[in-house]
Amino acid sequence: MRLVKLIANLGYGSRREVQAMFREGRITDPSGEVLYADDKVGHADVYVDGEPLDPPQGIALMLHKPVGVTCSTKDAGRLVYDLLPRRFALRDPLLSSVGRLDRDTSGLLLFTDDGGLLHRIISPKASVAKVYEATLASDLRGDEAALFASGTLMLESEKTPLAPAELEVVDARHARLTLTEGRYHQVRRMFAAVGNHVEQLHRASVGALTLGTLSEGEWRLLDAEDLACVFAKPSQAT
Ligand code: URA
Repeated sequence: MRLVKLIANLGYGSRREVQAMFREGRITDPSGEVLYADDKVGHADVYVDGEPLDPPQGIALMLHKPVGVTCSTKDAGRLVYDLLPRRFALRDPLLSSVGRLDRDTSGLLLFTDDGGLLHRIISPKASVAKVYEATLASDLRGDEAALFASGTLMLESEKTPLAPAELEVVDARHARLTLTEGRYHQVRRMFAAVGNHVEQLHRASVGALTLGTLSEGEWRLLDAEDLACVFAKPSQAT
């Protein structure tokens, strides 16, 4: 792929803008030697404004999503893309979130530009476990774990019952819920179905991948080991 197209596809600018960046000497090799648009160099040998070029197509990253940020490219208000480098929202192929978290939910949110990977993570066949920590408005009744595990719970306007889900009671108003599917507002609707209300919701892990030391609003690229964790069974979520 020609350098201009490669750099433009990574979201650094339109092809015209990238051509201007070449003219301004902003595209160099690692030693600072100016590159020209028709040079033939490998991805790792291209720097923009003294920084290595973003990774090529096939990236995955995780974001510690704060409350109050929407999983969308063009909603009013703060968007998850505002927490990533601006050019990430302009990449081609698109960097999309793997499923969504509600505006009022915090926690681990994955992104990728690899459609195959995205599909493998959200596919019901993969049964990737997502662990949610919920703070509830009312005390738990005591029968929720059995109902959620039963595989018979039908949510309003759904055609099939929910897959069995594991509820771990932390105390009367705090619970950890492990889901292997991702229906619309699923956690909130499950607790609503048992007469409760979720006051705070946080996703602690996807597979065995946890946020680790990432603070709210921070993100990092995932490597092969992280991706293997996504498809592994969750260890005790922290
Ligand atoms: N379930 C919800 O209700 N909200 C989320 O953001 C994720 C799962």
